Amino acid sequence: MNRNDACWCGSGLKYKKCHLPFDERIDSIKFDVFKSQCRPPHRIIKTPADIEGIRKSGVINDAALDLAGSMVEAGQNTEAIDTAVREFIESKGGIPACLNYEGFPKSICISINEVVCHGIPSKKTILQEGDIVNIDITTILDGYYADASRMFIVGKTTPEAEKLVRVAKECMELGIEAVKPWGWLGDIGAAVNAHAKANGYSVVTELGGHGVGKDFHEEPFVPHVGQPGTGMLLVPGMVLTVEPMINAGRYKVTVDKKDNWTVRTKDGSLSAQWEKTILVTETGTEVLSS
Ligand code: MF3
Ligand code: CO
Ligand code: CO
Repeated sequence: MNRNDACWCGSGLKYKKCHLPFDERIDSIKFDVFKSQCRPPHRIIKTPADIEGIRKSGVINDAALDLAGSMVEAGQNTEAIDTAVREFIESKGGIPACLNYEGFPKSICISINEVVCHGIPSKKTILQEGDIVNIDITTILDGYYADASRMFIVGKTTPEAEKLVRVAKECMELGIEAVKPWGWLGDIGAAVNAHAKANGYSVVTELGGHGVGKDFHEEPFVPHVGQPGTGMLLVPGMVLTVEPMINAGRYKVTVDKKDNWTVRTKDGSLSAQWEKTILVTETGTEVLSS
């Protein structure tokens, strides 16, 4: 690409006025193959218009999570929450991304206690006092995806479950704090896993975070365990989810044989997860959905 060509990012600016210094900085880096270090492909760098699109989608997604949370109470069936969220997102001109995604039958995921993720809302699933509940919502607005999840406690739970929910949130926060422009993807998992381990918990490895933008799950896969200084270089303009699944017991999970979706801890222990969509900026991160 020549200095006076239109920049590859789609900004409309000349390359020399846009991503030339960015590319020069990447080119000056010696990627260490022994640390699986690699360069982020141009196709995953968002334009300002992309970022604005995801940000707007995130505003609706956050409000959908507020609504879902307000419906969490003992005796509530999870299909009622699913229906209310679908109607809310649609009323704002959005689409609930989970509905029919690879055959998923509902609009959101509701994952209770030992369910790690991808729980299917149902009229027959009634929230019980003491349950710990993950609600994971993804909105598509004007073609842009925003993905986030939160934990909710039904009434009062045990001190053990309460601690798991708190530490899982801290794991996500530490993972996000580890995201630095010109840092490395492996820094995230290193921070998450260290905090989980220090509390006697384990981190699910089979599922992870992901790039997000015009598609639900984009490159890169974001592991929640790892070594600092390894993996893909993190650069401004990347949008990722950080969504560690933290188990009170062992890290292994199983997928329900009947519905092919519900992921549970193999040992039946409790699991908790929080998720945010974040943008890597020149100085740190900006939360686009939480
Ligand atoms: N929202 C989930 C994630 O964080 C994905 C759910 S896919 C579904 O990546 F099909 F189960 F809805
Ligand atoms: Co996600
Ligand atoms: Co999600």
